[in-house]
Amino acid sequence: MNSPVMQGLNLNAPDYVRNARLIAWVADMVALSKPESVYWCDGSQEEYDRLCQKLVDAGTFRRLDPVKRPNSYLAWSDPSDVARVEDRTFICSKKKEDAGPTNNWMDPAEMRATLQPLFDGCMKGRTMYVVPFSMGPLGSPIAHIGVELSDSPYVAVNMKIMTRMGKAVYDVLGVEGEFVPCVHTVGAPLQPGQKDSSWPCNKTKYIVHYPEAREIWSYGSGYGGNALLGKKCFALRIASTMGRDQGWLAEHMLILGVTNPQGKKYHVAAAFPSACGKTNFAMLVPPKGFEGWKVTTIGDDIAWVKPGADGRLYAINPEAGYFGVAPGTNTQTNPNCMASLDKDVIFTNVALTDDGDVWWEGMGEPPAHAIDWQGKEWSPQIARETGAKAAHPNARFTVAATNNPALDPTWDDPKGVPIDAFIFGGRRSNTVPLVSEGRNWVEGVYMAATMGSETTAAIVGQVGVVRRDPFAMLAFAGYNMSDYFQHWLNLGKKLEAKGAKPPKIFTTNWFRKGADGKFVWPGYGENMRVLKWMIDRIEGKAQGTDHVFGISPTYEELNWTGLEFSPEQFKSVISIDKAAWEKELQLHSELFQQLSYHLPQELGATKTEIEKRLAA
Ligand code: OXD
Ligand code: MN
Repeated sequence: MNSPVMQGLNLNAPDYVRNARLIAWVADMVALSKPESVYWCDGSQEEYDRLCQKLVDAGTFRRLDPVKRPNSYLAWSDPSDVARVEDRTFICSKKKEDAGPTNNWMDPAEMRATLQPLFDGCMKGRTMYVVPFSMGPLGSPIAHIGVELSDSPYVAVNMKIMTRMGKAVYDVLGVEGEFVPCVHTVGAPLQPGQKDSSWPCNKTKYIVHYPEAREIWSYGSGYGGNALLGKKCFALRIASTMGRDQGWLAEHMLILGVTNPQGKKYHVAAAFPSACGKTNFAMLVPPKGFEGWKVTTIGDDIAWVKPGADGRLYAINPEAGYFGVAPGTNTQTNPNCMASLDKDVIFTNVALTDDGDVWWEGMGEPPAHAIDWQGKEWSPQIARETGAKAAHPNARFTVAATNNPALDPTWDDPKGVPIDAFIFGGRRSNTVPLVSEGRNWVEGVYMAATMGSETTAAIVGQVGVVRRDPFAMLAFAGYNMSDYFQHWLNLGKKLEAKGAKPPKIFTTNWFRKGADGKFVWPGYGENMRVLKWMIDRIEGKAQGTDHVFGISPTYEELNWTGLEFSPEQFKSVISIDKAAWEKELQLHSELFQQLSYHLPQELGATKTEIEKRLAA
């Protein structure tokens, strides 16, 4: 054992941990945060079961009925700790301009000075878990390694599901390998004898990224993207800056395989803002009229995309599990997801039924009685009288990708899959058509850059307002958004210079509403009709019609077998309303104004073209 003894605490690093930088860093963090003990996770099933039992004993987890939901648990968070805290999330690059106007910024030295007293002793009375993880298949040339130090066993068990976590990571890391250091604390040190809460956290929260040093520091929250640092913090914010520096992309995208009845397979990567049906699209079941088609999941939230030697772009899913929004999920909207949740799940902030199972709004028939996510009595009558929700709207499940019956056989392939198209889908009740294709890479980038979306419960504080969410990366780009646009434009140019055809770029909007305020497009599995049109475009089999904002299908170009959807209905989801678009373009101007520093000139030029077409 190599056991540096810090302040009387044996680090207890196992023999197989040979990375000197890692051991020195853990020693430093122990000296700073002063945990009662250090535990090095090996990622085994035995360890997972033991930590889950510890969480049950602590009152954080409830074991669900072993017949109805084998090996599954329910956690209820503190009511104040239920979603990502964007206003407490910081990109601390050396220069403010490098964080850009869409990120909160603080000078790194000032931030380090701010965090120092908060982290000093922050783990007192708790165990520090050392969580080694690979984002992406172990040893893949597209993958990268991180190590999270956390005082939350909830984080350790979630990381086991969400990443390739455990001992094998140290083999890849070796003596000198690189890793992204991620420190996480719930910010609730325990005094000797003090009783712990079932969901420790702190009112003060900081989610901090140092892009140059490639470090992540998270304080005060135990929830989701604030605490599972492999996901948004590493795989998007830090990885996007690595991609900028190294010529690849870290994107807020699901990855799908689509196989036609002849056995030809396509791959698409699709960006949707948080909680806009991304998991449903990632697990889409082809509807009637698409017999013989197969849709398979490679990833549900994040894609790392690197150019291959053949000039194509190859994508991996850096994650190994799904941290998805439960409410609204049911056997109709997402049968594959529901099947994934049969066993081995951690649920957070859903309701507990009297028979030891879970329930959430939109799951189906409500139970006559349940305990809601805040531990209070709940019934349909109470809900009617008080509006109380059984599950928090951002309630989540954590489940391994391998539970997904539609998992793509290549999902774990270290080479990744070649991408044929990128899709950008906002949530807009009007204006943006069901689907349109950028006439070229630049126009596609323009569409993605100006994407708008009505916000959801995945973010604290604002639901239902339209905000610009470029590339669905507003909260996740770890550097200046305009530089990020430029990075995309450069990549397209680089591929074209190599003589390669870059992937097509499409935008979608499943969410247009009719005069009655209801969604017109049926969505879910029916989105296959749109996906098939995209493939026809890739194959040169559909001509589409040109309009101010790209190319959209004609009614005749979609396969309507099995769905009644009239030309009038189609028109109401595909049409371009001139007045609405004039307003929309003003909003694009406002966005470009905000992002004027380093805004690529091509985007302004594309906007001028759209304005000209609109005026014509
Ligand atoms: C997520 C999000 O949790 O985008 O995936 O908020
Ligand atoms: Mn997401």
